[in-house]
Amino acid sequence: MSLPDTVRIVEVGPRDGLQNEPQSIVAAVKIELIERLAAAGLPVVEAGAFVSPKWVPQMAASADVLQGIRRRAGVHYPVLVPNMKGLDAALAAGAEEIAVFGAASESFSQRNINCSINESLERFRPVIEAARERDVRVRGYVSCVLGCPYEGEIAPEAVATVAAELQAMGCYEISLGDTIGVGTPRKAQRMVEAVAERVPISRLAAHFHDTYGQALANLYAVMELGIATVDSSVAGLGGCPYARGASGNVATEDVVYLLDGLGITTGVDLEALAATGRWISGKLGRQPASRVAQALAARA
Ligand code: HMG
Ligand code: MG
Repeated sequence: MSLPDTVRIVEVGPRDGLQNEPQSIVAAVKIELIERLAAAGLPVVEAGAFVSPKWVPQMAASADVLQGIRRRAGVHYPVLVPNMKGLDAALAAGAEEIAVFGAASESFSQRNINCSINESLERFRPVIEAARERDVRVRGYVSCVLGCPYEGEIAPEAVATVAAELQAMGCYEISLGDTIGVGTPRKAQRMVEAVAERVPISRLAAHFHDTYGQALANLYAVMELGIATVDSSVAGLGGCPYARGASGNVATEDVVYLLDGLGITTGVDLEALAATGRWISGKLGRQPASRVAQALAARA
């Protein structure tokens, strides 16, 4: 199969990125970040998480953030929701799209959401139903698709089982998370092939962290199989508080540069995106992790 003509990028920096920052970022900065990302052409900007503030304090102000953003027509602003309590809070704050998040690893599921994989699926079922009754779209994540920080290797079939369950429950798209960025291209392809036997490839997204510097190679490999939705994080912000050693998501700047070079349309303005990455990195007191952002800054 050849590469797709168009790739939809799901920007997860304001959620996956900022959930892992030791310092707390005020809502006004998050709002500006989300608005700048949407203005740069990102069609989806994950805006926060309605999770327990005891578990992830960095996401505590998600209601203020979601209510504070000026929405652009055509842009989606999903938020993470782990249970009914989170759904109620997200709906009250005006969420029009949510994402539930499960895992292909039992140990990770326990550490991240305090329940087994089966319990999580039973917990998601009424959440997905209630959301869909209100015309709220639901995305599903599967974590640890290429390895688990507690269990090591994860069988592709285990990923396929959870992905298929989430789709059957009503998730319109399943995002496959290499949570700790350990995957390599052939392994990523084998995992996607196994999942694609159960869920159409057009409904799959790649969510790769870049811990071992493999994310772009892995993305290229799975785009060759037909994956056309890619999650990434401006300036490479990110990680997971329940996956020690997990570094940021693949940087959106790096993904856009790659796709621009391949002639694949994203609708994203790389210069505006890179400026946003420099701006948020400045707020965090560091340089963007994106190699492309660094190269563009050195050229300027
Ligand atoms: P629990 O402790 O089992 O839940 O946590 P509980 O129902 O017993 O409630 C405990 C307390 O939390 C109670 O408060 C609840 O009210 C409160 P208390 O009575 O003690 O004062 N609570 C909530 N508060 C606000 N919003 C809620 C909520 N639910 C309960 N929704 C729970 C279970 C799922 C809540 C918890 O484990 C949790 O919030 N986990 C979230 C962890 C998380 O956000 N991880 C990062 C996101 S996943 C990720 O990054 C991976 C991804 O990027 C893909 C990839 O890279 O692989 C998506
Ligand atoms: Mg992630």
